Amino acid sequence: MKVSIIGGGGLVGSMAAYALHLGKIASHICILDANAQVAEGVALDILQGTSLVADQRVTAGTIEKDIPDSHTVVITAGLRRKPEESRLDLINRNVDLFLGLLAQVKAAGLKPTTNLVVVSNPVDILTHLAVERSGLDWRRVIGLGTQLDTARLNSHLARRLSLPATQVRALILGEHGDSMVPIWSSATVAGLPLAHWPGYTPTLEREVFEETKTAGATMIKLKGGSGFAVGVSIREVVESLLLDSRKVLPVSSLQQGLYGIRDICLSVPTVVGSGGARDQVEVAISPREHVALGNSARVLRDILEQVRARLSGKPVVAVAPAAAATAPAQTPSAPQASAERTVPRQAWQAR
Ligand SMILES: NC(=O)c1ccc[n+]([C@@H]2O[C@H](COP(=O)([O-])OP(=O)(O)OC[C@H]3O[C@@H](n4cnc5c(N)ncnc54)[C@H](O)[C@@H]3O)[C@@H](O)[C@H]2O)c1
Repeated sequence: MKVSIIGGGGLVGSMAAYALHLGKIASHICILDANAQVAEGVALDILQGTSLVADQRVTAGTIEKDIPDSHTVVITAGLRRKPEESRLDLINRNVDLFLGLLAQVKAAGLKPTTNLVVVSNPVDILTHLAVERSGLDWRRVIGLGTQLDTARLNSHLARRLSLPATQVRALILGEHGDSMVPIWSSATVAGLPLAHWPGYTPTLEREVFEETKTAGATMIKLKGGSGFAVGVSIREVVESLLLDSRKVLPVSSLQQGLYGIRDICLSVPTVVGSGGARDQVEVAISPREHVALGNSARVLRDILEQVRARLSGKPVVAVAPAAAATAPAQTPSAPQASAERTVPRQAWQAR
C-alpha cells in the first residue's frame, strides 16, 4: 500500500519515511516536498537500502500525480518560527500553509477511502480544519495528537525506574501542547499498577511529566527538532491503518461527546484501523484528569476561535507577547474573558 508524505524532505517527514521503510509494511513510500531536490535525495537515500530491508518502491513525487492512488497521506510540512514572531502569527502562517496544501490535495483527487494523518503543528487545530475542509469523513482524518507525548512519557518513566520501556503503559490525552493531560490513574508496569511500583513517588511523577512536556523544546535546543521518536510514533499510526490492527492509540480526532467533549479535535483513546478512527473510547479516569481534559478542550477551542476569526475576516483579539504557559494540566484555571485570552506558547513554537 502506498503512503505519501508531504513535507517528507524535512526532519520529521524523512524520519517517518525511514521508520516506515524499516517497518516493511508499506509497499510504496512516496516523498513530496516543496524542495523537490531534497525530496529526491531522501527518496534515493532510503531506496539505496531497500536491497537490505524490504521490497519497497521509494520515490519522490508530486501532489497531483501521487495523492490520487495513495492509501494514506501524511502531512508533515510546516514552517519554523521567525525571530520576533508572535505565537498567533506562527499558528496563522502554518494554518495558511496547511489550508493551501489541503486545497491542492483535494484538487488532485483525494479518494474518500484515503486516510489523512496530520502531523504538522498546531496538530489538533490543523486536524480540525482538515475534517472541515478535506471532504473526507471525520474518521479518515487523524492527527498524531499525543502519540509522541505518550511514547516519551513511557520511555522517560522506564529510564527513571530502570524498567523495560515496552512494559510501561501510561497515557497522555488532550492537546498536543501545554494542556496535555497525563493519565496516571490507569498507568501500569507489566499489568501492575505503576503507583505501587517500588521507587515510584509523586515527585518522580511530576518530574517525568515535566520532562515529557518540555521534550519538544529540548529537542529543538539539542539538535534542531524531534526526529527519531516522532518518526516511529507516525509509523505506529500508519501501520495500524495499513494492517487494520485496531490498536488503541492516543491520536487526535473530531470528538463526538465522550468525556463531555465534542466538536473539537484532541486525543482520546482511539481504535485505529481500516476506515481510520474506528472508535473513540471512554474509560473511567480520575475526576481531576477529567477536569483537566475539559480544560485542554477549552484551550484548543480558544485557539480555534482565533484562527476562525482571522479566516472569516473578523478582527482578531490581541495576543499577549509573553511566554506565559497555560495552567498546569492538573489544575485547570477558570475560563478567561475573551479579551484577555492568550494563545499559549507551545514547545513546537520554541524555535
Ligand atoms: N505532532 C507532533 O507530535 C510533532 C512532532 C514534531 C514536529 N511536528 C511538526 O512537524 C512539522 C515539521 O517539522 P520539521 O522539523 O520536519 O520541519 P522541517 O522544517 O525540517 O521540515 C518541513 C518541511 O516541509 C516542507 N514544506 C514547507 N512548505 C511546503 C509545501 N507547501 N509543500 C510541501 N512541503 C513543504 C519544507 O520544504 C520542509 O522540508 C512542524 O509543523 C512541527 O511543528 C509535530
